[in-house]
Amino acid sequence: MSHTSRLLDVQDICFAQDGTLLLAPVSLTLNIGEFILLTGPSGSGKSTLLKIIASLLEPSGGEVIFKGQPVSSIKPESYRQQVSWCVQTPALFGDTVYDNLALPWKIRQKKVDVAVLKHWLKQVNLPETMLDKKIEQLSGGEKQRVALLRNLQFLPDVLLLDEITSALDAENKQLIHQLIAGLVKEQGVAVLWISHDSAEMSQAPRVITLPLPDGRAKNESA
Ligand SMILES: Nc1ncnc2c1ncn2[C@@H]1O[C@H](COP(=O)(O)OP(=O)(O)OP(=O)(O)O)[C@@H](O)[C@H]1O
Ligand SMILES: [Mg+2]
Repeated sequence: MSHTSRLLDVQDICFAQDGTLLLAPVSLTLNIGEFILLTGPSGSGKSTLLKIIASLLEPSGGEVIFKGQPVSSIKPESYRQQVSWCVQTPALFGDTVYDNLALPWKIRQKKVDVAVLKHWLKQVNLPETMLDKKIEQLSGGEKQRVALLRNLQFLPDVLLLDEITSALDAENKQLIHQLIAGLVKEQGVAVLWISHDSAEMSQAPRVITLPLPDGRAKNESA
């Protein structure tokens, strides 16, 4: 890999609170067009690591470098457009699905192209009519897909995805996985994907497993 293909360098990142280590030091490099699946027992700090990389949480040690610059030195608005984070239980806002999908356009002061929104809905197996649906009427799996589409309206360089298919059935899990894999392959998006799903793990080109920070065995973690 040439130097210019390196997007993210996670260098010895750890997180502790009140003297307890919650994330043991971890280092990894994410390149353009790379898909890394992050797994490990519950409590190993996967979500914590993703939040640190998303610059939503300060690490206790180590540094995250994006395109050669420490993330702490990059303007948050600029970083958020390049490195986009999506979680299992997304926070949707406003009244309707449209309100949520229109936000990325409004942030960029662009006129919303409704045809594009409808196209994206179709990609994740949701009907066009979903645009006018009220947020409180959505199922958990519909919320997850609407939230993900917010991240995809304007493709970032890096997608940080934390168990985003947890509420979906097997068919829709597969659909989302293929959609993301296509963005990796065709658009060169880099993905850090947290999952416990064995089917998703078997399809991932690279898997990183985080250990429990205090060294307990996996079967003691439940
Ligand atoms: N804001 C916080 N304050 C204190 N402790 C926290 C906080 N967030 C997470 N933790 C603790 O940090 C540890 C790692 O949590 P984290 O959510 O990162 O794990 P995870 O690997 O994502 O687990 P899961 O697979 O269950 O989602 C856990 O012991 C958790 O209780
Ligand atoms: Mg988690």
